[in-house]
Amino acid sequence: MEIAGKVVVVTGGGSGIGRELALRAHREGAVHVAVADLNEAAARETASAIGAGASAFRCDVAHEADIQRLVRETEAAAGPIGLFCSNAGIISMDPDFDNPASATDESFARSWGVHVMAHVYAARAVVPGMIARRSGWLLNTVSAAGLLSQIGSSVYSTTKHAAIGFAESLAIATKDHGIGVSVLCPQGVATGMTAGGFFAGADVDGVMTAEACVDAAIEGLRAEKFVILPHANVGDYMRLKAENYERWIGGMAKLRRRIALARASHLAGAGTGE
Ligand SMILES: NC(=O)c1ccc[n+]([C@@H]2O[C@H](COP(=O)([O-])OP(=O)(O)OC[C@H]3O[C@@H](n4cnc5c(N)ncnc54)[C@H](O)[C@@H]3O)[C@@H](O)[C@H]2O)c1
Repeated sequence: MEIAGKVVVVTGGGSGIGRELALRAHREGAVHVAVADLNEAAARETASAIGAGASAFRCDVAHEADIQRLVRETEAAAGPIGLFCSNAGIISMDPDFDNPASATDESFARSWGVHVMAHVYAARAVVPGMIARRSGWLLNTVSAAGLLSQIGSSVYSTTKHAAIGFAESLAIATKDHGIGVSVLCPQGVATGMTAGGFFAGADVDGVMTAEACVDAAIEGLRAEKFVILPHANVGDYMRLKAENYERWIGGMAKLRRRIALARASHLAGAGTGE
């Protein structure tokens, strides 16, 4: 699919990958880019960096009424949405690194809302129109954590896996209607989400810039890929996981031990002001 000539929506467009997606969609020739974010000032900043071809929305993607308003007002002003990028995301680490059940119910519910229901609400709002027009694309920013795992955050890992599950259903059900679905699944990307020592010991395959991640997203959209992997190694890890699950769990446990040590020394360094 080509972005040129399309009306594009990007959620979480105020920062990081979403901000880059919005700027790049404009450079690729989108006729309009609607930038939505919980942080309205950040959404406005991205939209004003684009200029006349953009609008900004305060939107909590976990609230269906906010997504409906975003779609309704964008389509009224700019025309049918050709590409909806569900990108907003949050991360919270397990309070107890040794216990993946230690996060609160509220934490699970919030991430479920942002990572899963937001994608459901977006599809509910745009898919009927896309079916009628026999065209449209949904790009859902998920994560390599949705295909593999996220050490230290079962909330993130679990909800991102669910996001993959929903996207698969969506892709299968809408393919014959001329609609495309892609999941963007990077590992580490240097953004607001990952600032401040987040990657201590965990940047196994390198942390990429948001620009590089979005380059891969655009290339993946152009090639009409379902799974877009900005870090090529993720495909190898998926193969290893499918071939020998037990061995993969063992390898991840080894990585977790390494991360636990790196975290401990990072926290000790922070405690002494180093
Ligand atoms: N940074 C990484 O290493 C990484 C890796 C894999 C996947 N991802 C995913 O990429 C996406 C973008 O994250 P990022 O790294 O650019 O982080 P970021 O924190 O820089 O940007 C996320 C944006 O989403 C917005 N947001 C959060 N909750 C929202 C809500 N309920 N409604 C609307 N907006 C909301 C935030 O205000 C922020 O502007 C997320 O889905 C994240 O899970 C990030």
